[in-house]
Parts: sequence; C-alpha cells; structure tokens
Amino acid sequence: MSIEPYDRDGHACVLFTGLVGDENGEAVQANQCLIVDNQQGMLLDPGGAMTYNELFVTMSHFFPPKQLQYVFASHADPDVIASLQRRLSASTTKLLISRIWARFVPHFSTASTAGRIIAVPDEGGIVQIGRSELVLLPAHFLHSEGNFQVYDPVAKILFSGDLGVSLMAGGKAGTPVRDLAALLPLMQGFHRRYIVSNRVCRFWASMARTLDIETIVPQHGAPIAGKPAVAAFIDWIEQLDCGIDLMTQDNYRVPTQRLAVA
Ligand SMILES: [Fe+2]
Ligand SMILES: [Fe+2]
Repeated sequence: MSIEPYDRDGHACVLFTGLVGDENGEAVQANQCLIVDNQQGMLLDPGGAMTYNELFVTMSHFFPPKQLQYVFASHADPDVIASLQRRLSASTTKLLISRIWARFVPHFSTASTAGRIIAVPDEGGIVQIGRSELVLLPAHFLHSEGNFQVYDPVAKILFSGDLGVSLMAGGKAGTPVRDLAALLPLMQGFHRRYIVSNRVCRFWASMARTLDIETIVPQHGAPIAGKPAVAAFIDWIEQLDCGIDLMTQDNYRVPTQRLAVA
C-alpha cells in the first residue's frame, strides 16, 4: 500500500507501508519513504532483500528508481539497508549514513562501494534535492549509536526511523493516527526495550520542539498525524524510562536454563 501524505508544487512524499511484514509476525512490518522534489529523489530506509523487488516496482509509479540521487539509512540495521548491494548496482545513487556505520555497511555488498557512501557527521546537516532542502537530524541512541532522522520542512514531516514506532501488521500501518493514546499500547514495549535511555529522549524532545512538525512517520507502524498527536508523542517520549534505565543486575546473570531449540 502506498499513501502520499504530501504532494504539492513539485514536492511529494510517498509512504510504502505494506511491502514487508507478514501477518504471522515472522518479519517485522516496515515502512519505506520516498521524497521527490522537482525530478530529484531520496529514498529513506529502503529495507532488506525481501522488500527490494516490490519496492522497485511500486516506487516506479512515482519516481524512476535508477535516477535516485540518494538513499538515506537512519542506521545500519538489516530492515533498513540490507538491500544495499542491489540498490547501488541498480542505480548511481549514493548512500547517506552515519559516519560510524559508513565502514560497516560495505559488508552488505559483494561489489565495491567506493565513492558511493557518504558518511554523515555526528552533528548531521542539510541535503538539497531538487529545489528543497532536507535536514538530517541527530538522533543518536534512538535507537542506534549512530542514528539520523530526516525532517522535511516543506511537507512538515519528520521521518523518525525507529523512534515513534508502533508494532502492527502491514495492512494497518497505512492509516495515520491522530489520537496518540490509541497507539501507545503498540509503542510502549518497543520503546522501553530498543531506545537506549531517557537521557537522550529528553535531548531529542528539546530539539524536536523547535521544529514545525505536522506528521511523524516512523519506520514501523502508523504515522502520527496532526500537531496535537505530535506534541503528545514528544511529551510521552520525554518522560519515558527505557533501555539502560530499566536494566538491573537481574538482567546480567549467568543462565542456567537450556534453550528450547529442538
Ligand atoms: Fe533499528
Ligand atoms: Fe527498524
């Protein structure tokens, strides 16, 4: 399923929600996003091998995949960028990824990645596509050690990677949610385990409040739509204890039970 949360004056954002993520839960549902401005394009978190073919075909309705200027990877997880080799070999695109992952992601490829990977410095930066500028926002430890989000000031959309995730089946992720309370049961467990600490959540919240955000689009689950829901999410994550905040000595004991692997 694809939805277009923004399409105006040569600038469009397209969200693909149902290409991966089966109903029995074997692979986590994942969203892929495309930003196009005046015949230039950036593909965000394109996913792994299982997404590649269908995304190539679906995306072709909106933008020629071979002409992508950039692929952006919020971090280096397999659901984000395991398709790197096919992406690079099928186009002249360059990959934007945190400097701390830039020398690790070539392991996803058997072909040379020389000159194709742009290492984004920790402080992030601004990238031009077409006539618009996209902001690569620092989001380190939310959840990955080197982690960025993309803010599109034209569409007022924050593409938030693995922050703001709600775990659900692919068919439901295409419906934006305006009432954050409805999403929280699907968000809580993920954020408590995958986001590293409340300390970085508070820094992120302070930064996010300086931006004019209409919609947050995470890499998994439903978009958080409308300023009240966006503000509610920022307030929620700011106070959430998570990750290492919740760890105790009980989480670090030598196991005595056999794994059920038969
Ligand atoms: Fe991740
Ligand atoms: Fe993810």
